[in-house]
Amino acid sequence: MLRTHLCAELNEQNIGDEVSLCGWCNTYRDHGGVVFIDLRDKSGLVQLVCDPASPSYNLASSVRDEYVLIIKGRVRARGEGLENPKLKTGKIEVVVENLIIENTSKTPPIGIDDKNVGEDLKLKYRYLDLRSKRSYEVFKLRSDINKVVHKTFDSLGFIEVETPILTKATPEGARDYLVPSRVHDGEFFALPQSPQIFKQLLMMSGFDRYYQIARCFRDEDLRADRQPEFSQIDVEMSFCDENDIMSVAEGLIKNIFALKNVDIQTPFMRMSYDEAMESYGSDKPDLRFEMPLVEVGDLFIDSSNDIFKNIARDTKNNRFKALCIKGGDEFFSRKTLGEAEEFVRKFGAAGLAYIQIKEDGPKGPLVKFISEENLKILINRVDANRGDIIFFGAGAKKIVWDYMGRLRLKVASDMGKIPQDCYKFLWVIDFPMFEESEGRISALHHPFTMPKDIENPDIEAIKSVAYDVVLNGVELGGGSIRIHKPEIQAKIFEILGISREVAQDKFGFLLEALSFGAPPHGGFAIGLDRLVMLLANQNSIRDVIAFPKTQKATCPLTDAPSSVGEDQLRELHIRLRNPK
Ligand code: AMO
Repeated sequence: MLRTHLCAELNEQNIGDEVSLCGWCNTYRDHGGVVFIDLRDKSGLVQLVCDPASPSYNLASSVRDEYVLIIKGRVRARGEGLENPKLKTGKIEVVVENLIIENTSKTPPIGIDDKNVGEDLKLKYRYLDLRSKRSYEVFKLRSDINKVVHKTFDSLGFIEVETPILTKATPEGARDYLVPSRVHDGEFFALPQSPQIFKQLLMMSGFDRYYQIARCFRDEDLRADRQPEFSQIDVEMSFCDENDIMSVAEGLIKNIFALKNVDIQTPFMRMSYDEAMESYGSDKPDLRFEMPLVEVGDLFIDSSNDIFKNIARDTKNNRFKALCIKGGDEFFSRKTLGEAEEFVRKFGAAGLAYIQIKEDGPKGPLVKFISEENLKILINRVDANRGDIIFFGAGAKKIVWDYMGRLRLKVASDMGKIPQDCYKFLWVIDFPMFEESEGRISALHHPFTMPKDIENPDIEAIKSVAYDVVLNGVELGGGSIRIHKPEIQAKIFEILGISREVAQDKFGFLLEALSFGAPPHGGFAIGLDRLVMLLANQNSIRDVIAFPKTQKATCPLTDAPSSVGEDQLRELHIRLRNPK
């Protein structure tokens, strides 16, 4: 054994012990002829001391950052006043008796655990970036979560099954990553956006309870919580209803949070999609703080302003939302009001009207367009008091929900109104089955989701048996009860405008499987990276993926994606449109 201890395992009980340690030189200092080296391994740091009397002194003097060292030495207490309370091993140090420089290092291009390094450089030298204890702790937590996942599902009678990576397009609705077939000229595999269809097929195989920590691939615009390649805790169950499935998900989440000694209360609160949109302008509301959007259109039906009046009168398509910010009058100056307006304009607002509740009464551009009586009702309805400001959003409902929901989040964050270290879970339920955009109807979740009332002639009003689990405003996961009857599936494809031929071509194998006795089934998938990100208190899922892609979907470390040779392309029957 090269080592007897990990660096940060040593403490006062080891004083006098002969120890062997291995690791990297985190920092070195030469204090009046005595060399101090902070030795680092995955557990943390310990201070090494080498004085000129030691046979290793000359070698120790040549040690530089990130050299790999193997040492033997004796643990001693640090001298009076020399303890370092910030360090776990700050009461002791190791006097070096023998030192081996196992490897040298070039000057590292990035500091270990340096938060000010640019993304590209950080990812190019990701292996150095990962050397920090902080990174190790994130990945240790991720590994512990995986263990809890296996343990939880094992105890509930689930089996783990791997599903194909080279497959056919799945229905999540993002763009596919394609893999050309060498054997079949002009044909492509798609990488799975999720194991959705295969897990349903496993229910038709009678496996009853399936789970997998599955890798998924989606070619979509990236954000802090989206990567082209990510992992899901993927689950499917037969002969169950949505409550059974939601309670399995809740139990899993509870077990995972116990890793951090956080006791999550179950069952989670449930909220309909309609309420989430109306009150928070989002299907993933952050409930760590209140600040709801309040409908006030009825108070502007007779407004002296024609634009407001017309918006207020079309209650089917429009919304007129008020957002009361407690203490907002003092917070918002003319300048920050302008910035708030700029912000909502980016998301389609025509402007941002407001009312300030001043000492001498309500003030602001909107006051003159509402009757005195209605103004009183409004102030009462949004519970505004002196010192508050009320923002208004009016227009097409989807746009108003969106920018007012975003404004709610921004203001709460800017004003420090979002409590940290608090976990607000929520199920959003009763999603619409379909959504319409630019005249095209698509499935809001996916086309295999069970509708609640398929006979309803008002397509927009049809709800689905789908549910999303939301944590602190992040969509953590989602799922649904699936269609298990071929005639309902056919009807959904018909509404979606998918012809019989196209349905057959894309999903024929699933439709056929449905015709051989498919059990009722449903499931869910939780975004593992997002879960780790929230539990590890990180801001981006890139921090919890060992080798992530940049915002531009590249890997600066390996330089992928990269061009390939003509020979390889020819084998794959590919000719480039714009060769480099
Ligand atoms: P859905 O598409 O909602 O459902 O995905 C489930 C969860 O996966 C995570 N997720 C992502 N994480 C990181 N990067 C991405 N690009 C990304 N896309 C999604 C989210 C999301 O909530 N097959 C269905 C599940 C089911 O019905 O059982 C599905 O994939 O946390």
